[in-house]
Amino acid sequence: MRRKDKEITDKKTIEEILAGSEICRIAISDKEAPYIVPFNYGYRDNCLYFHSAPAGKKIDLLRLNNRVCFEIEYSHKIIRQELSCGWTSKYRSVIGYGTVDIIEDAGRIKDGLDIIMSHYGSEVNLYDEKNLSRMVLLQLRIDSISGKQSGDWELPRIAIVSSSVRTGRNSHRVALFFRHFLKERKLAIAEILDLQSYNFPLFEERLPYQESPSEAVLDFAGRIKSADGVIIVTPEYNGGYPASLKNAIDLLTEEWRRKPVAISTVSDGAFGGTQVITSLQFSLWKMKAWTVPAMFPVLNAHESFDAEGIPADKHSTEKRAAGFVQELLWSIEATGKVPR
Ligand SMILES: Cc1cc2nc3c(=O)[nH]c(=O)nc-3n(C[C@H](O)[C@H](O)[C@H](O)COP(=O)(O)O)c2cc1C
Repeated sequence: MRRKDKEITDKKTIEEILAGSEICRIAISDKEAPYIVPFNYGYRDNCLYFHSAPAGKKIDLLRLNNRVCFEIEYSHKIIRQELSCGWTSKYRSVIGYGTVDIIEDAGRIKDGLDIIMSHYGSEVNLYDEKNLSRMVLLQLRIDSISGKQSGDWELPRIAIVSSSVRTGRNSHRVALFFRHFLKERKLAIAEILDLQSYNFPLFEERLPYQESPSEAVLDFAGRIKSADGVIIVTPEYNGGYPASLKNAIDLLTEEWRRKPVAISTVSDGAFGGTQVITSLQFSLWKMKAWTVPAMFPVLNAHESFDAEGIPADKHSTEKRAAGFVQELLWSIEATGKVPR
């Protein structure tokens, strides 16, 4: 590969591309020019699997020469800039060589189809025997493979603001949950900004107008500024969000501008703190933050999560969290395209 700086050298990333992409293109030799065919595929143990009708141009060509070149691309995006010369692509792709065997045995076809179906998320599969008898499985044994990437593939940085400073607080459990969730799923580099630890005094003035701001204020401002996105976990107190959070929002100015912010509301009642949404969103809108149109209300906080942030109902909580975080990640990506 000529551009060594773009080469993917670790096998794990190559496996991630193979596991996370949807289409594989195969170039088959023909007399005058290569013949390229896109396939849905499955991958297991250094082999790619495809299904095909038993007759046709690709099968005829493969019977003459089964050596192929293949290409798979993962998450391609155009990165727009003000100057046309600055436009670029963010992509990851692999190219490889191998040989294709045409498999006609019904049992092996079924096994291959299971691999393909599982690649697209289906684990329990039912097949119609009549259709199976009208197809072949193509098994591509990979001889060599190389990966290439361009663009920023670093994980986004998400700051989780834990707003409650109350003795015996419960909403902090939700902040702990999000930190773990983001880390475990490798969605972001996450850290908690705990307003109880910062222990800011009651508001005196905004940071840019303070003569000698404290270390704590500078630290908080720096972390909000450098975060790609923010999750605010807030309790509901008397229908509003707590003074500690208003205090921290008002301290900063520019740091909030165009910052994607997702809000999780928490209460020990049945409404999950949802009454704070409008007032908190409005304050953030005034600060020119980009609030994300997603909710993560937590009802009965003291029962829904334990003190370590482990949810009582792991499956449904993680399912909700995935949708909520996805909206934030979308906004992070969108704001990345806008000069700040
Ligand atoms: C001052 C105060 C006011 C509260 N007001 C409400 C309320 O209006 N609605 C509600 O559902 N829960 C209310 N609660 C209960 C909180 O939602 C509950 O304590 C929750 O766990 C708050 O998060 P925290 O434990 O982290 O402070 C209130 C609690 C306090 C301390």
